[in-house]
Amino acid sequence: MATHTGRLTTTPAGTAPAPAPADAAPDLRPGQVTGPPVRVRGLTRRFDGRTVLDDVDLEIAENQFVALLGRSGSGKSTLLRALAGLDADVDGTGRVAVPRSTSVIFQDARLLPWQRVLDNVVLGLAGPGADGQGRARLAEVGLAGRERAWPNQLSGGEQQRVALARALVSEPRLLLADEPFGALDALTRIRMHGLLRELCQRHRPAVLLVTHDVDEAVMLADRVLVLDDGRLTVDLAINLPGPRSHRHPNVVEYRERLLAALGVNQAEGAAA
Ligand SMILES: Nc1ncnc2c1ncn2[C@@H]1O[C@H](COP(=O)(O)OP(=O)(O)OP(=O)(O)O)[C@@H](O)[C@H]1O
Ligand SMILES: [Mg+2]
Repeated sequence: MATHTGRLTTTPAGTAPAPAPADAAPDLRPGQVTGPPVRVRGLTRRFDGRTVLDDVDLEIAENQFVALLGRSGSGKSTLLRALAGLDADVDGTGRVAVPRSTSVIFQDARLLPWQRVLDNVVLGLAGPGADGQGRARLAEVGLAGRERAWPNQLSGGEQQRVALARALVSEPRLLLADEPFGALDALTRIRMHGLLRELCQRHRPAVLLVTHDVDEAVMLADRVLVLDDGRLTVDLAINLPGPRSHRHPNVVEYRERLLAALGVNQAEGAAA
């Protein structure tokens, strides 16, 4: 486990967080591979003296898919960045333990424009099997045959598929995703939902997906959290056996409960 305290070492996007600092909390042991992949204790983050995360506790179990909802500005990205070890410059306290094998995806694919698609996917992956792994992940996201394309020859949705392939190529124990489909059109987004769910069922990382979209949260996650006023105010288990459908009566009920928690009137629609 990489264990972060209030001040963190900046880690490039898409790679594992920095090794544990020497002042790791005794209850969150660096290098520990047992226990839940995500353990957060008393996490507080402030910007200009304003508290954005207020004493947040969170555990995410092995293979669990968690969606994080909250109004714009509620601190979702701040929490994700703390987990990713990307908030070294932010004022705060608390303990964060995540696996060394953690991948991060953002709304923009963040591909290197001077590297071909396959090279982007296997970036940072060592060993003779790396190219094979990269090709396999590209095939899984429907991009077999595009290995030698340049990123700017791909559509936005295709670039995001490459980002997903890159995130999964190292078989991470934890996948952190900050609105990965936020910039895509509605149809592409629905296709990406199916793809992400299928890939997560196959590769089994624990997932924390930040989203504005209540339907996205309910259709994808095993558990939905709502962040409000710096605290996790809702922790809802999603129980939908079998293939997920928008028409399932439980979906309608979960959606209503979450919209109410977000203070959204049904007539205003599903976007939080
Ligand atoms: N680097 C920063 N400097 C100052 N304030 C910041 C910084 N980053 C975030 N904030 C503030 O912290 C609050 C939470 O921001 P954050 O980006 O975590 O929200 P969010 O829930 O992800 O919102 P959105 O849904 O719009 O992406 C906001 O009020 C934001 O203005
Ligand atoms: Mg955000």
